[in-house]
Amino acid sequence: MNNIRNQHIGVFDSGFGGLTILHEIQKVLPEYSYIYLGDNARSPYGTRSFETVYKYTLEAVKKLFELDCTLIIIACNTASAKALRTIQQNDLPKLAPDKRILGVIRPCSEQAGSFTANNNLGIFATNGTVSSHSYEIEIQKFFPHIIVTSHACPMWVPLVENGESQSEGANYFIQKEINAILTKNPSIDSILLACTHYPILLPKIRDFLPKHISIINQGNIVAHSLQKYLKNHPEIEHKILKNSNTQYFTTENADVFNSIAECFTFNKIQARTITL
Ligand code: DGL
Repeated sequence: MNNIRNQHIGVFDSGFGGLTILHEIQKVLPEYSYIYLGDNARSPYGTRSFETVYKYTLEAVKKLFELDCTLIIIACNTASAKALRTIQQNDLPKLAPDKRILGVIRPCSEQAGSFTANNNLGIFATNGTVSSHSYEIEIQKFFPHIIVTSHACPMWVPLVENGESQSEGANYFIQKEINAILTKNPSIDSILLACTHYPILLPKIRDFLPKHISIINQGNIVAHSLQKYLKNHPEIEHKILKNSNTQYFTTENADVFNSIAECFTFNKIQARTITL
């Protein structure tokens, strides 16, 4: 086994949202070296076609491999839903057979049985994730008795991206989507926030959601799943640098990224602009 620790864990998202996942991963696994890549120049992915999301995600994956990531977490639900499987099966064996790419849908689906007591689970996500039916398909594999009700919240990402998460507008659109999902299935007892941006809206979602419905935040689930993965895959873990450092890259303006990213991480960030 190669014991030289000179590689990083890559965390990819269409924009800022993946910082909410990175933040949770760093709480559980603070010792590793991370590279965050946000494709802010082409965000949002949630409304784009399969072909486009696949093309953009593959470009990001190649860049993270060039930057010496041995393991990539696709933090973006839309990219996990629309591109991950094809990249894992068709591209990775040619591109970098020794490297690994993981998404966020599988770890959350594996845990879905513990989210709901009455087997009625709601999912809030982007249009892209909902129309892919990826959560329904994955959850069915582990828990065929769970009724999954997915609902797209197309205004929530723009509200967060534009700094409107505390506004009256946010109140309106949060209430609207909660009413809509409960009309589809009034028996829902838990809702998974299956979009990287939605944790920023969590306090407001909590305010508007009936108290008996629990909210599942995926960052912590992804973080513990990664911890387990690294334990079970020493051949990958032994390559990852342990320096508790994070480098940030964006495809857009770095100064803008730094100022908005602070709302997601509550930390000072020094990003660099990169071209995919
Ligand atoms: N990162 C995306 C996701 O988790 C949300 C933002 C977008 O639409 O690009 O689905």
